[in-house]
Amino acid sequence: MNTDDELDRRFSEKSAWREARTPWNLAVAALRDAATPHWDLTQTNPTDAELPYPVEALMEIARQTSALPYDPAPLGTASARRSLVDRLAAGHDPDDVCLAASTSELYRFLLDLLCDAGDNILVPAPGYPLFDMIGDLNGVELRFYPLLEADGWSIDLDALEAAVDSRTRAIIVVTPNNPTGSCIDHEWPALIELCLAQQLTLISDEVFAPYRFRPTDGGSLLDAAGAEQILHVALGGLSKYAALPGHKLSWAFVGGPTALRRTAMRRLETIADTFLSPSSSVQAALPALLDLAPEMQRAIRGRCLENLSQMESLAATSAVTPLRPTGGWSALLKMPRILDDEAWGVRLLTEARVVLQPGSLYRFGGPGFLVASLLTPTERWREGMSRISAVVDRFG
Ligand SMILES: Cc1ncc(COP(=O)(O)O)c(C=O)c1O
Repeated sequence: MNTDDELDRRFSEKSAWREARTPWNLAVAALRDAATPHWDLTQTNPTDAELPYPVEALMEIARQTSALPYDPAPLGTASARRSLVDRLAAGHDPDDVCLAASTSELYRFLLDLLCDAGDNILVPAPGYPLFDMIGDLNGVELRFYPLLEADGWSIDLDALEAAVDSRTRAIIVVTPNNPTGSCIDHEWPALIELCLAQQLTLISDEVFAPYRFRPTDGGSLLDAAGAEQILHVALGGLSKYAALPGHKLSWAFVGGPTALRRTAMRRLETIADTFLSPSSSVQAALPALLDLAPEMQRAIRGRCLENLSQMESLAATSAVTPLRPTGGWSALLKMPRILDDEAWGVRLLTEARVVLQPGSLYRFGGPGFLVASLLTPTERWREGMSRISAVVDRFG
């Protein structure tokens, strides 16, 4: 039998992640293994959330686009890139768009473009855990800048600035952020000024942009005054935009001063050419999929708003404080301080068979945050919420 150390010697250090074995992970695994009925409020895969997909229309698009010739265009086909600009970024040059199979892959491309091993990038906390893995794989250090709960999860700009050093290459912002649901708004000028002063690239992850509950909240980096002075990138993708994660297509809009932008695009082209990852068929289908997307966005926004109002009625009857997000697919429950988030997660699993993620998975600083997916089918959500309330009442 090989020991862990012997096995580790055969593989790279950067891939030596250990399976998380926290009490919450173990309790979730035990519940699922025992096939015990439970109420999972963490489902984020829209294709598994009982949403009304336009199946016939999707099949017709696939029929028309799956048997076309292969066009190995590294940054994506001209027609796919043009369709994105026409629908999402009027006035942007299609030559300054890069396609990849997913937003995660675009992050990989961007770190390859901007960073050498030992460089660092700044990312929000709380935030999406994907960055940890991508940072590890690229040998890039992540520096977390705090979002301030008391100020609607706005960026702590002083802490952000203090985190910059000579090895910092980029600031990543996520708007709406996963899982706080907060949007960047008044922070754009300070972010742009800092990037200009320190020669940093500003990357704005806007995958959840169509899910702002009031469209006037927040806006795209592409529209921010002064963004043209710095190298900047706005990210989006079909997995959220059209609720089609299996179609595997995402985009990066790149902007900024001409020499920087052209160099970035030339280098991105070579990186993308190494993989040529998005399929021809999804690129050919893109204009039709973008046209279908508003239908899915409406269905998801309706689901999220219904679940949010259900969650808010919990506030009236229990010691749980639901935090209303500005956008996105997640909701936060702030639990009474008698337990930390992990202990609350375990208690809800064992006493109510309700699955919620402890906030520590997303680097919440303070205790007692649990994260729920607003995509959860409404009946399950309702039952889950009333079970949470019963456990909290019983506990004190
Ligand atoms: C903020 C954020 N960015 C990127 C992604 C990854 O998107 P993709 O499915 O396009 O890789 C996710 C996935 O949930 C996300 O929450």
